[in-house]
Amino acid sequence: MANKSLNSNLHKANKAKKDEFYTQLIDIEKELKHYKEQFRDKVVYCNCDDPFESNFFKYFAAKFNALGLKKLITTSYTKSPIVGQQILPLDIEGLKPNCKEPFKIEITEVSDIDEDGAIDLEDVKSLLKRNKKNSTPLKGNGDFRSDECIELLKEADIVVTNPPFSLFREYVAQLVQYKKKFLIIGNVNSITYKECFKIIKDNKMWLGASIHSGDREFRVPDDYPLDAASSRIDSDGYKYIRVKGVRWFTNLDYEERHENLVFYKKYLPEEYPKYDNYDAINVDKTADIPMDYNGLMGVPITFLDKYNPEQFEIIGLGISNSGKEIGVKPYKKEHKKYRKEIQKRGAVDGDLYMITNGIVDVPYARILIKNKRVKK
Ligand SMILES: C[S@@+](CC[C@H](N)C(=O)[O-])C[C@H]1O[C@@H](n2cnc3c(N)ncnc32)[C@H](O)[C@@H]1O
Repeated sequence: MANKSLNSNLHKANKAKKDEFYTQLIDIEKELKHYKEQFRDKVVYCNCDDPFESNFFKYFAAKFNALGLKKLITTSYTKSPIVGQQILPLDIEGLKPNCKEPFKIEITEVSDIDEDGAIDLEDVKSLLKRNKKNSTPLKGNGDFRSDECIELLKEADIVVTNPPFSLFREYVAQLVQYKKKFLIIGNVNSITYKECFKIIKDNKMWLGASIHSGDREFRVPDDYPLDAASSRIDSDGYKYIRVKGVRWFTNLDYEERHENLVFYKKYLPEEYPKYDNYDAINVDKTADIPMDYNGLMGVPITFLDKYNPEQFEIIGLGISNSGKEIGVKPYKKEHKKYRKEIQKRGAVDGDLYMITNGIVDVPYARILIKNKRVKK
């Protein structure tokens, strides 16, 4: 029994650690540049963001006037750890009385307080120093699901953050429930969560503009255990890890997602096997979608990186209950033994595993689509 609770505590601690990834300013800038006009006169809320650690706060505070924001609200969470002082976006002595206490910062205007001719983060610092009312303690723990944070959410037009990975489903569900515009970071495998996929299929959420492959670097707390292959410590001793499969998830529109994909391959039955448990062909790479095929096709979830909703219709996802809903039959008995292995590997890698093992049941997390603009 003691062992069991020790294990569960360790599990919880590990889970919490996985939630402490700090987004780099450069990644925020690269994504946000696609939506600038959509922020004009809007209330932006960063609800998983200790302003003293978060580059989201730094970004919006520094660009408050350039973006024409109406208001910026940022709330921190009780359990947010204290990370190294110097690199905090806002190093304002005396303003943050106790790093463990959750608090809120609200900004409604930024002027050239230091009279240097530019309105920037220095002015935000001066504003916060001068007007302590901009920074107030929260009553509760700052949980994005708490009543007081939901009240702030209601006031917001757009929510922008990197939410805790372990609560991603709940986080997205809440944004949808309150009909908010959002731009958030998550893992590509979240696409395969039943709740998230449904929102994507209904064209109420899609992948953002700037990240479609590779990995991204995040800062982690000082006590984060590093594995050498995908991490580094900078000259100040701060730790960073590289994370694969990162994507932006949003319901803010941008031009590139309406561009037509051009294909070069024609359908040949021997190149595109039909699944045994669903009436669709298997396509291993999005680029290999046969331009002249008008039936259903199973494509990798990374298809969504290129998805143009005018060109394709999403029919469903070939996994468990989502699969059942569209008539995907269960895996064959002799293939069931692969299932655990596939799930362990995650959606993208799981697909590869299945295909390299010659299994033509709909692989883990293939998206089933139909081309609306078939070329003959
Ligand atoms: C992935 S980190 C990202 C932090 C920051 N948004 C950034 O991108 O640098 C997620 C943050 O959410 C906080 N958090 C965890 N659970 C939360 C909850 N239930 N409500 C609000 N924030 C939470 C964590 O403390 C952590 O700082």
